[in-house]
Amino acid sequence: MPAVRLSRLRKDNPTRDWISEVLLRPKDLIQPYFVVGGKRIDRPVRSLPGVSHLSIDKLLKDMDGARKRGIKSVLLFGIPGTKDKIGAEAYKKNGIVQKAVKEIKKNFKDIIVITDVCLCGYTAHGHCGIFKERGTGGGRQGYIIDNDKTLKALTKIALSHAASGADLVAPSAMMDGQVRSIREGLDKNAFENTGILAYSAKYASNFYGPFREASDSGPQFGDRKGYQMDPRNSNQALREIREDIKEGADIVMVKPALSYLDIIYRAKEKFNVPVAAYNVSGEYTMVEGYIDSISHPIPQGYGPRTKSGILVRGGAGSAERMELRKNIVLEILTGIKRAGADFIITYWAKEAAKWLRL
Ligand code: PBG
Repeated sequence: MPAVRLSRLRKDNPTRDWISEVLLRPKDLIQPYFVVGGKRIDRPVRSLPGVSHLSIDKLLKDMDGARKRGIKSVLLFGIPGTKDKIGAEAYKKNGIVQKAVKEIKKNFKDIIVITDVCLCGYTAHGHCGIFKERGTGGGRQGYIIDNDKTLKALTKIALSHAASGADLVAPSAMMDGQVRSIREGLDKNAFENTGILAYSAKYASNFYGPFREASDSGPQFGDRKGYQMDPRNSNQALREIREDIKEGADIVMVKPALSYLDIIYRAKEKFNVPVAAYNVSGEYTMVEGYIDSISHPIPQGYGPRTKSGILVRGGAGSAERMELRKNIVLEILTGIKRAGADFIITYWAKEAAKWLRL
């Protein structure tokens, strides 16, 4: 028997392109945005290089650019002016997200607007739920979240987003029953066409740090392990996803993406519903930091090297570094898609869309 020459189908670019299985498209990528009040604000976020807090005017401008590159959907996070114990700013009729959604819908007919529905950016304590009085209920760290009271708040937030024109709401608080409560609320109020993108398998991850700085939403005490998932579990993730589908989720999400590709794969295989993956802030900065720090020979095929074959930090080879960066980002996004994600929420969305169009 002659050797099986699989490399025949890898022999040159046309063959490789022709035989390739996974096709990453701009429409697969969801661009997250942080919206703030005010005008003409474009304030770079220290923890997330390349990401800014944008006021609505700047947001529209940026979105127009993203749109022209083929981005079809955005995920909005609001940065409120004030916070309190119960996150009341989150469901204000004229809150920052509500206003932003209205403006986007007024200006663009072809953008799918998804809104994050959670309390952590709006509560002074930074948790995703409302507390029972501290000390009551004997929670492990002396506090306990009132799941069912939180459901009411989340539903109010979702309704206010739907009333502003959001296409889908994305509950991310990991409260039990949040999808059912929101679905019922939407249906009762004639928003049966507003969809739900559920953060179904959201892990208590160490990769959220840069986001928490960006949205000033880190817990002021304790952690989120009481409501977000334990990284050691996968069967439970499938159960979370199954429940969310039963409760009425249109799209389910796995978050983060890279340490949880197995969950994405299993979710897609098992349920065959649209699956989104959140390529989170720490995964983004890991790559940006890597690119900044390169001081070793770059992998083969990624453009010419400096004379010594070494790229020095901050030194020569910035074009090569940018080429490497692009290739790494596309490799990561392709990997997430290959695992089974239909949509990827990524801070690289509009940039990757540009590369994909070339
Ligand atoms: C809030 C929320 C978080 C992220 C999205 N929505 C953070 C958290 O749970 O603390 C993280 C996104 C990222 O890291 O990019 N519920």
